Amino acid sequence: MSNPPVSAVILAAGKSTRMKSARSKVLHAVGGLPLVGHVIAAVDTLSPDRVAVVIGPGMDDLADYVDPHPTAVQTDRRGTADAFKAARGLFDDFTDGTILVLLGDTAFLSPFALQEMANKRAEGYAVVVMGIEPYDPGSYGRMIVDPESGELTEIVEVAGRDDVRHIGLCNTGVMAFDASVIWELVDQITDDNPKGEFYLTDIVAIARAAGHRCAHIVTDSFQGIDSRLGLAEAEMTWQDAARRAAMEGGATLLDPASTYFSYDTILGQDVTIAQNVVLGPGVVIADNVRIEPFCHLEHCRIESGASIGPFARLRGGAEVGEDAKIGTFVESKNGKFGKGAKTPHLSYVGDAEVGAGANVGAGVITCNYDGVLKHKTIIGEGAFIGSNSALVAPVTVGDRALVGAGSTIAKDVEAEAIATTRSPQKNIPGAATKRRERLQKIKDSKA
Ligand code: UD1
Ligand code: MG
Repeated sequence: MSNPPVSAVILAAGKSTRMKSARSKVLHAVGGLPLVGHVIAAVDTLSPDRVAVVIGPGMDDLADYVDPHPTAVQTDRRGTADAFKAARGLFDDFTDGTILVLLGDTAFLSPFALQEMANKRAEGYAVVVMGIEPYDPGSYGRMIVDPESGELTEIVEVAGRDDVRHIGLCNTGVMAFDASVIWELVDQITDDNPKGEFYLTDIVAIARAAGHRCAHIVTDSFQGIDSRLGLAEAEMTWQDAARRAAMEGGATLLDPASTYFSYDTILGQDVTIAQNVVLGPGVVIADNVRIEPFCHLEHCRIESGASIGPFARLRGGAEVGEDAKIGTFVESKNGKFGKGAKTPHLSYVGDAEVGAGANVGAGVITCNYDGVLKHKTIIGEGAFIGSNSALVAPVTVGDRALVGAGSTIAKDVEAEAIATTRSPQKNIPGAATKRRERLQKIKDSKA
């Protein structure tokens, strides 16, 4: 028999006091994705009927981020139970099934553990709680289990309760509720505790007192994130896992600890990444690509056989074609480089198309911005742009055309033509020696 339907509520209205941030802590990122984005991704694996997010007043940035998921506003922020109740109106027609509650300030929720929660709830428990036995239980709520029945009897917050600190089984905050009974139970939670908050964790004792059964599962994949320290620890753990996955997937990392990935990085096979490389969001790298040291890439696509860096910066939709080369100190925003195109040194290529086999010399700049608008540069196939040239967009250099070094090109250059804007060179025989002698005499006369 299949499980009853699952819906989810993500609590994210807290004031982020311990994070010391003007922004909600759930918008702080791990692996380039906000914490709440990781939570939504994990819960989406259960194909939930709906996922609602509880936010605080004025958290428009969070509402925008989670859109199209519906949000409910918790006005007074009086604890996790009070937050959960704020979502009630979004579940009026969801009376039969499982309501999963997740905290937005968490990382590493395992889809397998979430599925186990849903399965366990379907066995007839009113409340199922996800527990963890961390090396350092810190300030996590502690879970008390009846040794005989194995049933969960209570969750105790540690504030003011030193008598429970020795308990190793901790509350992740992820709970699965029977939708048909939860709202009447949650109404019985009071703020009778040292913090004067409505703790959702009290639901276990209340459900038991009302004659319901509660259970728990134990996961080894979870972290609650309340501070910058916790965020940094989660990032380290996440990056370590991403590095392992990249190497297991067939990439060579010359110094794994200095390679940084994002949640959506895609790597082909036999990709080599040298030391100190940051792959921000939106990077897709095909097979046999080599990334030399000190590159920062985001929102770009690199086709097979291409080589990037050292010290390259690609962003804003840059696309590097097969076997193309982007070299030392080259930056491209939205540059499309054709097959085998080369930009080996010291260039900025913005809003440009560089044709297959074209060669962009050292120090070439596409002047894509006139101070107000952005314009496009097109460099044809097999064209050659001499060193230290400025291409003033909008401008097109035709196929196999050649631009002389040091030119400022503001008009189109037709295919196969040579364009140069340098002033003619004048050589004056013997003038250098004469000048040196004249200046030396002046210097000697002052000695
Ligand atoms: C909570 C649990 C604790 C558990 C830990 C796991 C409670 C009472 N305690 O503690 O047992 O071990 O998570 O990380 O549930 N929030 C609201 N409105 C509020 C208060 C909080 O929406 O009024 C949201 C926060 O935005 C946050 C989440 O609920 O995303 C958890 O709140 P937080 O204050 O971080 O609880 P913890 O102290 O971490
Ligand atoms: Mg927390």
